[in-house]
Amino acid sequence: MKFVLASQNPHKLVEMQEILSAHGVEAVLQSEMGIHVDVEETGETFAANAMLKAKAVMEASGLPAIADDSGVCVDALNGAPGVYSARYGGPELDDTARYKLLLANMRGAASRTAHFTSCIACIFPNGDTIEAEGICPGTIAFAPQGDGGFGYDPVFFLPELRKTYAQLTPEEKAAVSHRGKALAVFDEKLRDYLKGKK
Ligand code: IMP
Repeated sequence: MKFVLASQNPHKLVEMQEILSAHGVEAVLQSEMGIHVDVEETGETFAANAMLKAKAVMEASGLPAIADDSGVCVDALNGAPGVYSARYGGPELDDTARYKLLLANMRGAASRTAHFTSCIACIFPNGDTIEAEGICPGTIAFAPQGDGGFGYDPVFFLPELRKTYAQLTPEEKAAVSHRGKALAVFDEKLRDYLKGKK
């Protein structure tokens, strides 16, 4: 079965394609299908935004579509940046400026605990849906470390591994990350769903 990945974020696409192909799911990019929908993320939750994106691409392509909405929630900032992770500090900031802003906003914070969440939404042309969530707990480092990954990776520290996301190989990150966990749950649900269709 062919799925369209409803995302324009090249880093996320690589991570999702790698994990999905390992599970035997063929995923094509929305751009490869000639689909250019840019959905406004007006939902208040990761799950709502993921479904908004998946639904728009399913409607435009006529194929099952998968989307991920994700972000980092920092306890000392009452869950911010959360669903606003991609837009934290305004649209003119790049990834580096955004994590620097996060570090600045955490100066003097009593706790540095945080978690990443990924919500995956899949919708089929018949209206059936599959949703999956993955959470990865960690802390916000005092300074960036590592140059892999994207977004807040250099400042998201995993105490058990004593490394940031940016210091992990793509395989290591997929094994522990919010997106890796969400995709594993999604994979299981998809398998059950397809079994029911046979
Ligand atoms: P979305 O495209 O609205 O889901 O934006 C998610 C934003 O959260 C991204 O632009 C990143 O800033 C951040 N983010 C999501 N997943 C990751 C990750 O695995 N590492 C680092 N940052 C991430």
